[in-house]
Amino acid sequence: MAQDARNRPAHPDRSKAWQWIDSRLGLESLAYPIPAHANNVLYTLGGITLFGIVVLIISGIYLTQFYHADPSQARESVNYIISTARLGEYVRGLHFWLANLVVITLLLHLVRVFATGSYRAPRELNWVVGVGLFAIMLGLVFTGTVLKWDQEGWEALQHNQEIGELLGGAGVWFTPDFTDSTPILERLFIAHIAVLPFLLAGLAGVHLLLVKYHGISARPGEVIQHPGHTDTREAMEHEGYYRFTSHLADIVGWGLLVTAVGSLLALVFGAPLGELIDPGEEKTKPLWMFLPLYPFEDWFGIKALLWLPFVGLLGLAAIPFIDRFRSSGLRVRMPLLIAGAVVLATLAALGIYAQASTPAEHVPGVEEGAG
Ligand code: HEM
Repeated sequence: MAQDARNRPAHPDRSKAWQWIDSRLGLESLAYPIPAHANNVLYTLGGITLFGIVVLIISGIYLTQFYHADPSQARESVNYIISTARLGEYVRGLHFWLANLVVITLLLHLVRVFATGSYRAPRELNWVVGVGLFAIMLGLVFTGTVLKWDQEGWEALQHNQEIGELLGGAGVWFTPDFTDSTPILERLFIAHIAVLPFLLAGLAGVHLLLVKYHGISARPGEVIQHPGHTDTREAMEHEGYYRFTSHLADIVGWGLLVTAVGSLLALVFGAPLGELIDPGEEKTKPLWMFLPLYPFEDWFGIKALLWLPFVGLLGLAAIPFIDRFRSSGLRVRMPLLIAGAVVLATLAALGIYAQASTPAEHVPGVEEGAG
């Protein structure tokens, strides 16, 4: 099986119909080479994440038909989705639970890429693009939380505004001071349904182009430097390759399974909709992915929410440039892997601590009305 997947003759084994379509749309050029060792769910997690994002976009488009981003109507429109819109309650639940599951598959993808050292040369910049995708996904979850316009959403918005104020002139977009003509809720809605998805699509396109350009990394420690060859090609020559269509079928299969789990969670639990807004109090906690930040807010105030994510994302982006180990082998990079595990365990411990603590007042201006 020493043949390079990219050098195969023009898909002679495909049906005539497919060849007709492909010769016009070039769909097969989207395929990327898969060495045999990547025939594994760990190397499918990025694709599963993408599948989940597509379902989130479709379900989000449906919800957008009924959602009204005016602060005086928003909550009512969420109630309409739940009670009246056809399949509204289910679609809303799917959108919520799938968003949680997609963040999990995204984190697992990040951990796989980190553990296998796949961010090392020449893939450093694709890791940095991945960090951008991670930040955008968190932005989507955050803005989505505000939209349901319950106590949790409203407190999230207060934090958004406080952080905007800490940024001074540069943060004015995050505050109502930006314009009198449109409520900030509407601008966050536009961020959620247009600006962030647009950025996500653009960066995901670059990410996938780079995956295709570099191919999938060789096994950890098996990077064979050979002039003019990529490690993927070397790996495929040694161990054979896995057909991209089978890989795609795996991605779709896993993607459907994750969507089925999201559907089940939606049917059993629905999506949360908290208490009506009580502007005088802070009594909720953020979603699990933001919880590790919560204790820092207790200890250092709201400015921790500005600096910690910034430093954290910068540190994450710097990993490929810090890793100076001589190979991507697991043993060689053991100190780095242990450091990564300690960071993850610390984040989990902070999250559990935050979950157990009682909600505290963090935002000075909470009493300033909800409209
Ligand atoms: C919206 C989020 C993301 C999507 C849709 C996505 C998608 C993908 C896909 C489809 C692959 C091919 C291999 C695989 O599936 O494992 C891949 C590889 C890769 N991703 Fe992502 N990814 C995302 C986020 C990230 C993040 C957060 C990082 C790291 C911070 C990252 C870094 C990489 C790197 C370095 C590779 C090359 C891996 C290799 O060659 O073995 N990605 N990504």
